[in-house]
Parts: sequence; C-alpha cells; structure tokens
Amino acid sequence: MAQPNAPVKPATPDTISEAARLLRAGRLVAFPTETVYGLGADATNGEAVAAIFAAKNRPDFNPLIIHVADAEAAAALVEFDDRAHLLADNFWPGALTLVLPRKADCSVSLLAGAGLDTLAVRVPAHPTASALMAEANTPIAAPSANRSGEVSPTIAAHVAQSLGDAVSLIIDDGPCAIGVESTILDLSGPSPALLRPGGVTEDDIVAVLGPIEHASAKTIDAPRAPGMLSQHYATHIPLRMMATKVSKNEGLLAFGPAPLEGGAMMKNLSPTGDLAEAAANLFAMMRALDRPELDGIVVMAIPEIGLGMAINDRLRRATHD
Ligand code: TXA
Ligand code: MG
Repeated sequence: MAQPNAPVKPATPDTISEAARLLRAGRLVAFPTETVYGLGADATNGEAVAAIFAAKNRPDFNPLIIHVADAEAAAALVEFDDRAHLLADNFWPGALTLVLPRKADCSVSLLAGAGLDTLAVRVPAHPTASALMAEANTPIAAPSANRSGEVSPTIAAHVAQSLGDAVSLIIDDGPCAIGVESTILDLSGPSPALLRPGGVTEDDIVAVLGPIEHASAKTIDAPRAPGMLSQHYATHIPLRMMATKVSKNEGLLAFGPAPLEGGAMMKNLSPTGDLAEAAANLFAMMRALDRPELDGIVVMAIPEIGLGMAINDRLRRATHD
C-alpha cells in the first residue's frame, strides 16, 4: 500500500536493493533516469501496473514505456528486426524508445501496453536506473513520475511533491541529465515514424537509419500513436456496455459480486468490485471473450470513479458504434 510520505533516499547500493525488492513485491518506486524521473512498477504484474494509472490520475490508460537492463532483455519481449538492432547498437543505453511488435509469449501485462500489439521499450543509461533494472530482474513499466497534467519531474523533490503519497520509495540521484523524455520511434510499420521528439535527436537517428516519417504527417486512416490518435484495442465482435441482461450466445464481462445470469461465457473483472483488480484484468478478459462464435460481449456497469473512468474510457473506445 502507499504511504503518506514516501522516504526519499540517496542512490546507494542498499537503496537500490530495497527498491528492487519493493518492485518485485508489486510496489511503486520512483527512480532517476537520464531523461526524467520515472514512476516504476513490475511490468509483468497487472495490479502493480494498475497502481501506476491510479497514482498518476490518468484520464485514460496510455501505454507505458517498458524499461529493461539491456537490448537482450528487450529482445525477449518484442520482435527485434535489423533496424531495431542497428538503433540499439548506436543509442542504447540511452534516451531512445522503440515501439516494436510484442512477442507472442511476452511477459508484460496487457494493461501496461494498453492492450496494443506493440510495446515501447527502452534501456535507460542512468547508472542508478541500470543497476535497478538489473537487480529487479523484471521489465519495469515507468511513465514520467508526475501526475497527469503536470510536467515531467527532473529532481526528486518534484516527485515527492507530486506523488509522495502514492509511491513506496523515491530514489534521489540529483537532477536528470537530459530533462526531457526519450525520443519515441515507431518501428512497427514498414517505415520508421517519429512519435515523440526527445533526448536523442532526429538528426542522430537519420544519420544511422536514413529518412524517417513524422507521426503528425500520417493520415487519419493510419494512426500509430495512442494518446495522439485513437488506436486502442477494439474487440472484433460487438461490445455493449451498462448491460442489465445477457443472452445465451453472448459473453459476459462481469464486475462485482452479483454477475448477471445466463450467457455463453463469463469473465469477472473483479468479484469483489475492486477497480485496480478490474483494470489489471481488463485487456486480458476482453481478449478472452472476443471469440467469433459469440454474438457479442456485454459489460456490466462499472462505477465512473477513479480507475473506473479509465476502464470505461477503454471500453467505450472498443464499442462498435
Ligand atoms: O524518458 C522517458 O521516456 C520517460 C522515462 C521515465 O523513461 N518516460 C516517459 O513515459 O516519458 P510516459 O508514460 O510519460 O510517456 C510514454 C509515451 C506516451 O506518449 C505513450 O503514448 C507512448 O509513450 N507509447 C507507449 N507505448 C506505445 C506504443 N506501443 N505505441 C505508441 N506509443 C506508445
Ligand atoms: Mg509523461
């Protein structure tokens, strides 16, 4: 659980070990990177990832950047092609995030990637971040450690002001060297596209890779950037919200202790009505019910509060009207 005011501790080997233990136990830890401070959670733990969205107060589930210790660890999660290898050789560790197709057996929670088939991965260069990634020995989902609507923090005191009550530990290693977020390059399509300018310059990338597109130049038919345009997980079969009944050929996405009766198949987001648990289960359960033999998916009402707003936002985006 979060505590009123997280301790802010200097980046010693002991602090890093404590942070790695906390992360593995599903807690949130704020840590320095060379770009900005990150709000980290074990990316393989859906509930820990849900806690990030709750802490940041994000109006919706943007996909998160997954931080790993080295390119080999990244290649275990996503499909590396020649371009990815070339960029990793030139810019990792460093302020470049690559968006690549998820591997079929990728261990990262679907929630961390907002249910998309791609994942953003980065190997941070900051020695404290590197040591933490290596010791935690699990991929770390980490957005910038600020609440939604605030600028990214570049010193530990900013993190403490913004998120001190939501994290278990803040590692202080002075100001971030880069101070702007990483450059995000989408390699999931045939031509590389710049989704966000950042710590590694476009010229540097072009020098290695040749010309790249800008996401803003893309047509509305080919959105690539969640948050910028609305490419989010949508079910293949119709999805209906606020359901009060379910017919025999429909799948039920239930919430709470009293699921509706009937239906061909049922998944309960949280039998106890816990929104963090529901958020952690959302994308996996939507996928489980998205079966061609069903007429559709009906979803019980989910309270429009806290993480429920993010859950409902994603469900609305998945409806077919
Ligand atoms: O420098 C940074 O990148 C910092 C430090 C902590 O590493 N992190 C950071 O994370 O800026 P965040 O969550 O504030 O920004 C992540 C951005 C979002 O705009 C999100 O939409 C995009 O990455 N993103 C993540 N996964 C994506 C994906 N699969 N496809 C396209 N965009 C993605
Ligand atoms: Mg941010």
